[in-house]
Amino acid sequence: MTQTFRIAVIPGDGIGNEVVPDGLRVLDRLAETSDGALAFEYESFPWGCDYYLRTGRMMDGDGLERLQPFDAIYFGAVGWPGVPDHVSLWGLRLAICQGFDQYACIRPVRLLPGIESPLRGGTPETLDWVVVRENSEGEYAGVGGRSFAGRGPGEEVAVQSAMFTEKGCERIIRYAFELAQKRKRRKVTSVTKSNAQQYAMTLWDDVFARVRAEYPDVETEQWLVDAMAARFVLRPDSLEVVVGSNLFGDILSDLGSALAGSMGIAASANIDPERRHPSMFEPVHGSAPDISGKSIANPIAAIWTVALMLDHLGLDAEAARVMRAIEATTAARVFTPDLGGVATTRDVGDAIMSAL
Ligand code: NAI
Ligand code: MG
Repeated sequence: MTQTFRIAVIPGDGIGNEVVPDGLRVLDRLAETSDGALAFEYESFPWGCDYYLRTGRMMDGDGLERLQPFDAIYFGAVGWPGVPDHVSLWGLRLAICQGFDQYACIRPVRLLPGIESPLRGGTPETLDWVVVRENSEGEYAGVGGRSFAGRGPGEEVAVQSAMFTEKGCERIIRYAFELAQKRKRRKVTSVTKSNAQQYAMTLWDDVFARVRAEYPDVETEQWLVDAMAARFVLRPDSLEVVVGSNLFGDILSDLGSALAGSMGIAASANIDPERRHPSMFEPVHGSAPDISGKSIANPIAAIWTVALMLDHLGLDAEAARVMRAIEATTAARVFTPDLGGVATTRDVGDAIMSAL
C-alpha cells in the first residue's frame, strides 16, 4: 500500500526557484528508498512577481480553491524589485496564510553541528528553541488606511491598527503549551509589550493566565519584547518555546536565525492545526535579490522546511532522517558563502542527498 501525498509547489521569486528544487529532490529520494510505501505528487504554480507583471495578479483569483485539495504547500519566497513588497507579500504569502487561517507559525532556532554562531557561547546545547508566532491577526491584520492625500503635500495620514481577538490569542497560546509538552524542557515564554500596548497586549496576558492554568506541568514566563531581544543574545540557553504576536514573532525569529548562523538555514511552517486547510512550509528567508542567479543560495533552510512538512504529514521517521542528513552535511562543513564556505547550492544539495 503506497501512501501518496499531494504537494502544491510555489517556488515564487528569486532564490525561491533555486532552493525549492533541492527540497523536492529530498522528497523524491525518500519516496525512492521507501520500498513503495511513500509517494509524493507535485503540482507547481507559477505565482509570484513575474506572474504579477504579466497578469496584474500575484496569484489566480481561484488560487485558494485550487490549493485546498493538497496535503501541503511548499513555498519558496516572494518579492522582487519592481513590485512593491507590500503588494507581493499581501498578494501571495499573506493571502494564503490568512485565507487558510494558518494561524500558527513555527520557527525552530537551533545551532547545527559544524556551524559557528556569532554568539561567543553559542553551542548546539545553548541554542535550541522554537519561536511560535501568531500568524493570522495582530499587527498584520491589515486594518487601517491612508487618507487626506488630497489635502496636499505633507498632509497625508495613515492608520495601521493591530487587531487582537481573544480567540486568536487563545489558540496560539494553547498551541505553544501543547508544543512545550513535547519538548525536553516544558517551558513557555510569552512575549508582549503590555506596558506600552495597554489594550491588545493585556488581553493577550489575560488569555495567557487562563490557558496557563490548564497546563500546570509547564513552566511559564512573561517578558517584554525589547528585553527578550537582549535575552536572545545574552541567555539563549534559558529559552524553550517562545510565543508572541505576529510582528514580534517575525522580528525575533530573524534574530534567532542569525544567532543560529545564517538566514540561509532557517525553516518555518505556517500551520492550520485544525487541518481544515493545507498548511504551508517555507524557508524564513526572502527572495534574496542580492545573490539570486549566482547559484550560492543555501538550500538548507528549504530542506529543513521539508522536514517540518514531513513532521506535519505524520512522517516523523522521514523528518528525522532529513535532519540527520542536514546535520551530517553541516558537520562536514559543506558550506555556502553565507556560512563562510565556497560550496554552491548544488554542492550542498548533493551532500545532503548522499547523506540521505
Ligand atoms: P532576504 O531574506 O531575501 O535576504 C536577507 C539577506 O540574507 C540577504 O543578504 C540574502 O543574501 C541573505 N540570504 C537570504 N536567504 C539566503 C540563503 N538561502 N542563502 C544565503 N543567503 C541568504 O530578505 P530581504 O533582502 O529583506 O528581502 C528580499 C525580498 O524578499 C523582498 O522583496 C522581501 O519583501 C522578500 N521577503 C519575502 C519573504 C517571504 O517570502 N516569506 C520573507 C522575507 C522577505
Ligand atoms: Mg520575516
